[in-house]
Amino acid sequence: MAEAFRLDLTHRPRRLRRNPSVRGLVEETHLRASDLIAPLFVVEGDGPPQPIASMPGVFRLNIVDLVKECQALFDLGVPAVALFPKLDARFKDAVGSAALHEEALILRAVRAVKKAVPGMVVMTDIALDPYTTHGHDGVLTPDGRDVANDVTVEILVKMAVLHARAGVDFVAPSDMMDGRVGAIRRALDTGGFSQTAIMAYSAKYASAYYGPFRDAVGSATAAGTPPLDKRTYQLSPTNRREALVEVALDEQEGADIVMVKPAGPYLDIIREVRNASLKPVAAYQVSGEYAQVMAAAQLGWLDLERTRLESLTAIKRAGADMILTYFAKDVAAELR
Ligand code: PBG
Repeated sequence: MAEAFRLDLTHRPRRLRRNPSVRGLVEETHLRASDLIAPLFVVEGDGPPQPIASMPGVFRLNIVDLVKECQALFDLGVPAVALFPKLDARFKDAVGSAALHEEALILRAVRAVKKAVPGMVVMTDIALDPYTTHGHDGVLTPDGRDVANDVTVEILVKMAVLHARAGVDFVAPSDMMDGRVGAIRRALDTGGFSQTAIMAYSAKYASAYYGPFRDAVGSATAAGTPPLDKRTYQLSPTNRREALVEVALDEQEGADIVMVKPAGPYLDIIREVRNASLKPVAAYQVSGEYAQVMAAAQLGWLDLERTRLESLTAIKRAGADMILTYFAKDVAAELR
């Protein structure tokens, strides 16, 4: 019989993978429920949860159900929620006036959640897209061809102060206007809200992965018209250095947390930002990333539990301290 083949190896990395106990010892990345932020959609009225076709398992909730969901998330160890309103079309106009109503849906939602689940960190989006008929994050220039920067910031600042007054822990400007973080910080401080923090959507790309979200908040343009083009304010997917410029500016302007969005297709950016910044880094696993995994799982092409956990672990490994994900509740339950 021939002698058994044997390599004379000093290094056999597989020694560290022999069984679950050893693998646990050398594990470099730990995903915890306390890393997760659950995005939630809220609607007026007392109707039943509204399914979103392109986001199976995600629903728009009325305020009562929203509060229950927040309690359930908190009990599972999820420390934070990011709230997004879905407005009836009749409340929208070209300048997003409803964003500044004193009794806006989002403000009532924030107050209800903070009252019922005071420990829950509540974040709200600062941008006009749920409120504008055209679906852009700000008001348009007079020729209607672009989003006007400074006029938009003036509105966003007022919106942020209203949200702070309603009790949010974080305002999250997602609009990508120049100078908005600094303007919001100044207004919050002047208004007596020095403890209200800012999570800046710093490196937000002009991404096709936001499609299902735009269905969820109704900011997509009407059927038959071209998809919303936000390339004059959101970053080009081709660019890496430009993301670092945005992060540096948001830091200087007073951002408490900087964010990269989307997450999965931008792991390199998450790592760059992690290396360049001393601030906590958030990553947003967006609606299209969720939809991809869910669609493949529904077809039986991917294993849902393993794929979603791997997708989030990869984002954490890339350098995110926290992750906004529509999987938050299910993954928190699984991690228990
Ligand atoms: C808009 C906003 C978007 C998302 C969060 N805030 C979409 C957009 O810029 O059109 C996307 C979130 C997601 O896709 O899950 N201010």
